[in-house]
Amino acid sequence: MGFTHCDSGSVVAEMWRLPYHLNEVLRYHHDVQQSKLYPDLVALVSIADLLCRANVLGYGYREKRLPDPLQAIEWEILREKSPKLVRLGPAHVVQELSGHAKRIQKYIKSVFQG
Ligand SMILES: [Fe+2]
Repeated sequence: MGFTHCDSGSVVAEMWRLPYHLNEVLRYHHDVQQSKLYPDLVALVSIADLLCRANVLGYGYREKRLPDPLQAIEWEILREKSPKLVRLGPAHVVQELSGHAKRIQKYIKSVFQG
């Protein structure tokens, strides 16, 4: 098809008259550099998405190649907005959140597979 879930999410957000910051997250969470008004929010959601995908927390499809959240450009965007993140460092954040992956995988499995 000629559109992505980002495109369709943005159209639905417009139809439902959701606040623009939500629309921007829906539209650009896989292309954060296109976000002009809320790049930090979009980058945060994108990092969350990358962490989920890297820890195989998605459902419905398998990725050919798992993303490496530490290589994400999003960290640069967040670094400007969050001094705490600078102190912690992306590696610490990724390690800590990934430490919960097994428990989350179990939860997702129970929700989606009964
Ligand atoms: Fe997405």
